[in-house]
Amino acid sequence: MLMFREPIPVGWACRMLARLPGVLVDHAHLERKAATTAITLERYRDLYGRVRELNAIAIEELQHFERVLGLLEHRGIPFGQPVRSAWISGLMGAVRVGNNREQVIDHLLCCALIEGRSCEKFQLLGRALAGVDDELASFYASLVESEGNHYATYLLMARHLDEGETDRRLNWFLDFEAGLMRQRHDLAILH
Ligand SMILES: [Fe+2]
Ligand SMILES: [Fe+2]
Repeated sequence: MLMFREPIPVGWACRMLARLPGVLVDHAHLERKAATTAITLERYRDLYGRVRELNAIAIEELQHFERVLGLLEHRGIPFGQPVRSAWISGLMGAVRVGNNREQVIDHLLCCALIEGRSCEKFQLLGRALAGVDDELASFYASLVESEGNHYATYLLMARHLDEGETDRRLNWFLDFEAGLMRQRHDLAILH
């Protein structure tokens, strides 16, 4: 469970399995947003030296996006409207705006937490889908390492800028994220 302070609720994966078409559309949007976010981070002066690494993440996320779109097409599920996640909006809303260094650290931490939770959840989905839908089970299992690497990369980028401030903010964000996790919803979305 990486460093999170609130476990993913028992039965979460089963609830996702019961609503797979919607979850796959949400997953497509999640990968699309992950790609655009990596590119958005390139606008921070503090990250100009990391532009190739961020591009590499954006390319990987676009490849994930393509793979989900392929699954949707193969299963006859139309790509549709994104559904707002209160968890993601809550995290992004906590990014301190104005001071560039604080903003970039918070933004990187939010990205790390989103990648980390995706990593955890894809692992759970991979296990829950085994023997039920083996194509999807191996798809989710195949994403775990990549999302785990993105989590570590974003965290290290923040620490490289200011280790003390990153660890202080990470401590704050982990409590905040745990609170967001306790706000349950019944939407067909991953987060
Ligand atoms: Fe991804
Ligand atoms: Fe990712």
